Amino acid sequence: MAERGRFITMEGTEGVGKSTNLAFVKAWIEAEGHKVLVSREPGGTPLAEEIRSLLLAQRDEPVDAAAELLLVFAARAQHLEQVIKPALARGEWVLCDRFTDATYAYQGNGRGLDTDLITSLEQQVQGDLRPDLTIVLDIEPELGLARASARAELDRFERENLDFFQRVRQGYRERIAAAPERYGLIDAGQPLANVQVDVAALLQAAKKRWDS
Ligand code: TMP
Repeated sequence: MAERGRFITMEGTEGVGKSTNLAFVKAWIEAEGHKVLVSREPGGTPLAEEIRSLLLAQRDEPVDAAAELLLVFAARAQHLEQVIKPALARGEWVLCDRFTDATYAYQGNGRGLDTDLITSLEQQVQGDLRPDLTIVLDIEPELGLARASARAELDRFERENLDFFQRVRQGYRERIAAAPERYGLIDAGQPLANVQVDVAALLQAAKKRWDS
């Protein structure tokens, strides 16, 4: 049986530069000689992408936070069973644009839902599966939102106010503080070349741990 692949996730608030850095991490993994599957959450399968559209659409009806949370986990269950677990079992690495840390940060800190509820859904849906490494790109929310606004029409999350994103950012910091060995916090406000030096150093350090 193939050795299980590594599961790496990338997180951060809006406009933090996830896409550019995902491409960088993908290239790094490939240069290490591994096959890598790149995916995203919410999304990653046709059904989960439909759920993503439901979640991101701007609508007149207020969206209940618990409904939002359950949709996120419905998409995740599908994505895990159809895509992530099979790829890891084949020995591929999986690089995912957001995962459950986003749920703790957005639905927990952002929306104010009880962490125990999220933890219990995480356990139900994922069992023991957790990312091997989570790269958190950190930026002043003001700066990130300005970048995101310049890009395209804003989705339902991007229309939240600055306070919301301050709480989300705080949420990521709390996640890192609780289990620092699984995370790398990157200052994404620096010039891109410096960000990538930091990301590469983080990956090298993780590789050293995994190889030892
Ligand atoms: P983005 O990753 O393209 O920025 O868009 C996904 C949005 O979904 C983003 O605003 C964060 C939000 N989200 C959650 O609220 N909870 C989650 O668990 C995930 C994966 C994403």
